[in-house]
Amino acid sequence: MRAFVVKEHAHPSKISVAFDFPQPTPQRPDEVLVDVFSAGLNFFDLLQAQGKYQNQPPMPFVLGSEFAGLVASNSPIPKGCPFKPGDRVLGGGQGAFGETVAVPWKNLLPLPDNLSFDQAAGLFVTWPTSYEALVGRAELKPGEWVLVTASAGGVGIAAVQLAKALGAKVIAAAGSQAKLDISKRYGGADFCIDYTKPGWQNEVLNITGGKGVDVIYDPVGMIRDSLKCIAWKGRALVVGFAAGQIEKLPLNLVLLKNISIVGIHWGAYSKKEPQRAVVVWKELFELLASERVKPVVYSQIYPLERLADGLVAIEKRQTWGKAVVRIRDEATGQKAKL
Ligand SMILES: NC(=O)c1ccc[n+]([C@@H]2O[C@H](COP(=O)([O-])OP(=O)(O)OC[C@H]3O[C@@H](n4cnc5c(N)ncnc54)[C@H](OP(=O)(O)O)[C@@H]3O)[C@@H](O)[C@H]2O)c1
Repeated sequence: MRAFVVKEHAHPSKISVAFDFPQPTPQRPDEVLVDVFSAGLNFFDLLQAQGKYQNQPPMPFVLGSEFAGLVASNSPIPKGCPFKPGDRVLGGGQGAFGETVAVPWKNLLPLPDNLSFDQAAGLFVTWPTSYEALVGRAELKPGEWVLVTASAGGVGIAAVQLAKALGAKVIAAAGSQAKLDISKRYGGADFCIDYTKPGWQNEVLNITGGKGVDVIYDPVGMIRDSLKCIAWKGRALVVGFAAGQIEKLPLNLVLLKNISIVGIHWGAYSKKEPQRAVVVWKELFELLASERVKPVVYSQIYPLERLADGLVAIEKRQTWGKAVVRIRDEATGQKAKL
């Protein structure tokens, strides 16, 4: 099969697509085969290709970790698995940048009819992270103010849309006018702020009438900067460190401002709280079906042969929404031509 195979650790720009890599076979009794149509790109794919990520499969391995596609016609169907060959699914598992992937069936979800494979390819991680962060962890209430940093990014744009759908007033903060325009057009943000400008927190305070924001959603590592404009009893969500530094915070700020610092680790829910993950997906699917929220796909969709360009665009901070590689064409099921 065609696949983006890592045979030795290297930057993805140094790796070319293999055309004759063996199809995967299920290695465990709970695994099914999925024909991948589209797959989501993540920053950690860059790290994994170079051997710099916490999870490193044995070589050679197919890169990629989230996808949308069809349960393969030759897939085994394990006992208890609710899917059958031909079902539209989205899911997560190593090897998404190949024509077929083998994954435990519990890593799959039914793909809503109103979403394309491109739209669904990057849903598996970003959307439940943002939903649980806002709903389960920050306990966001209608009418509250939310500040989202990196508001045009994968988790950020989902957070902007979800906070709006939950009745909040949203201030989007990003690093360029183009990304602020995306936050407004695709996210529906109420206000947009360029956080590269010194003193941007004063703008937040002005917008909120001096009160500050009730919830900070931060995937960048900007909690300390953002606390300058948090409200009394505010909640600051630690989502990620896209800027590359793990932030440190003087705890006297937490005391003086009477606030909470709240973490979210969505990847651990399947082990720690699987019943909550079921509820999160049910509520998310309802929102997606209502079309009050809609996945945002980066305008450049990459064919497998140009996957490395997509990863480099993420590395250079050029993408917005979810960058996606299209492996098969949705209409024909054949190799995608872009
Ligand atoms: N906690 C969880 O469970 C969870 C789940 C999913 C993801 N995450 C984390 O959330 C973070 C964002 O993920 P994502 O998928 O939204 O990524 P993404 O789409 O690549 O967006 C990241 C954004 O961060 C901003 N940024 C600021 N400084 C940056 C820098 N020095 N280098 C690169 N980007 C920088 C950029 O926006 P501007 O150009 O506008 O500044 C960039 O577009 C990652 O750290 C990821 O690991 C956490």
